[in-house]
Amino acid sequence: MKITIAKKAGFCFGVNRAIKMVRKVLAVKDKPVFSLGLIIHNPDFIAELESEGLKVIDLIEEIDVDDGYFIIRSHGTTPEIIEEAKIKGLDIVDTTCPFVKKAQEVARNFFEGGFEVVIFGDKEHAEVIGINAHTKNNAKIIRNNNDLEKVDFSRPIGVLSQTTQKNDNFNEIVEAIKSRAEKEVIIENTICLDSTDKKEEISELAKENDVVIIVGGKISNNTKKLAEVGRASNLDTYHVENSKELLSEWFFDKKSVLIGAGASTPQKHIDDVVEKINSICNNG
Ligand code: F3S
Repeated sequence: MKITIAKKAGFCFGVNRAIKMVRKVLAVKDKPVFSLGLIIHNPDFIAELESEGLKVIDLIEEIDVDDGYFIIRSHGTTPEIIEEAKIKGLDIVDTTCPFVKKAQEVARNFFEGGFEVVIFGDKEHAEVIGINAHTKNNAKIIRNNNDLEKVDFSRPIGVLSQTTQKNDNFNEIVEAIKSRAEKEVIIENTICLDSTDKKEEISELAKENDVVIIVGGKISNNTKKLAEVGRASNLDTYHVENSKELLSEWFFDKKSVLIGAGASTPQKHIDDVVEKINSICNNG
């Protein structure tokens, strides 16, 4: 079996940076370290950080100490949450990815400039909730053409995207907005380059391989998108969270496999998958 690992597989710049910052405070061990929600969408890796002392909480109210570190995740958060953490006396460790910060800034500028703000993205995703908070929750969050009914086309419109969306889908929505807009439309493509590069690479290489394995958290938006891209080029595409989920029947009669991984997938998980495929196919 010929195994190809996508060059762009695994941690992106933003996740790498966030994890380094988190590990730095965990290493100090002088006070508790809290993160509101998962730092990255990868349960196995979160368990590893928890064993190093990280406390993952669902609500800021759960913090019952007046001293500790409060991690802002790479997806970013709302200004209100940061304010609440400060009031509680916590030390803020802001790992918000600079590309997400840029999207927040774009949304705020559109809003303050009097634009109808349109965010192309998933309204339940933490990143989008954070971006929307920078418009005082006034943005219209759009997933597809049906959602366009929410948009007030009589106003000037500013459009941006969640960083992990697909360019083609964003461009399609932009065209639909332009065709209905009665006033000026400003477009800021805030899709992150890492996310675009990963998808392009998988789309290209998936055609040349018999099987595609995408490794990463099932709750990771960018990993799910990567699997969608793989499947569009190769029906034998499988999304696994770790090597335990690999099934030997996927590789029966196949000669080549492409391995891709989302931005929140640790190198170790990619290595484990390679090792398991080698053992299934007796590549050794
Ligand atoms: Fe940042 Fe892009 Fe990663 S937005 S967190 S570098 S996927």
